[in-house]
Amino acid sequence: AVKAKIAPSMLSSDFANLATEAERMLLCGADWLHMDIMVIYLFSFEKFRLFVLFGDLRIRPPWHFVPNLTIGAPVIESLRKHTKAYLDCHLMVTNPLDYVEALAKAGASGFTFHIEVSKDNWRELIQSIKTKGMRPGVSLKPGTPIEEVYALVEDENPVEMVLIMTVEPGFGGQKFMPEMMDKVRALRKKYPSLDIEVDGGLGPSTIEMATSAGANCIVAGSSIFGAAEPAKVIAILRESVDK
Ligand code: DX5
Ligand code: ZN
Repeated sequence: AVKAKIAPSMLSSDFANLATEAERMLLCGADWLHMDIMVIYLFSFEKFRLFVLFGDLRIRPPWHFVPNLTIGAPVIESLRKHTKAYLDCHLMVTNPLDYVEALAKAGASGFTFHIEVSKDNWRELIQSIKTKGMRPGVSLKPGTPIEEVYALVEDENPVEMVLIMTVEPGFGGQKFMPEMMDKVRALRKKYPSLDIEVDGGLGPSTIEMATSAGANCIVAGSSIFGAAEPAKVIAILRESVDK
């Protein structure tokens, strides 16, 4: 069976005490630390000119992938000096390829990009993530059909994890979307040993839905950080995957 990976989302931690918060989560039994990376779209006149002149689909207008800002490579680099933990980086950015090198240098372990912004260059992305020594994953928003990631799992140079969003990306503390479990079930049926991660609204009251559908990597922010005893919540999540 696939191994349980419990990944507290550091988005719900006290960012001003990130190293201490990370250490606390590891002591509570966390396997991974989930790092939500949201940045301002890097935009230049040259990119805009190419977009207008040639309709180059790799050049995107200056919208943000999510309506929020969190952390980038400098914070990952700082945290890496304090911990050896697996840093499971979730890139909610329009142009993930631009961050591969910086995040690898900073010490990221996993690099999960979104399919919605990588339809034209996912092969190149997977390759560069692996070349830089990180583990590639692909994520989909609630509105994106699961079929869109099959090619990435079946490629000769495949992603090693699929992250199914169970809320609209952007913020912690939102309500779990049970409808997304159809995607998890479909994926688990096709790929018995794939790492399938779920992210958004997970906690003791929703975990059964996710694990019975086949999820084994569990991201949880507010349910862990908001608990009086985070170790207990982590243990409950793990037991649900393992049983
Ligand atoms: C949302 C992030 C999640 C978020 C989950 O955009 O990808 O990782 O922190 O937080 P909870 O568990 O509170 O829904
Ligand atoms: Zn996330």
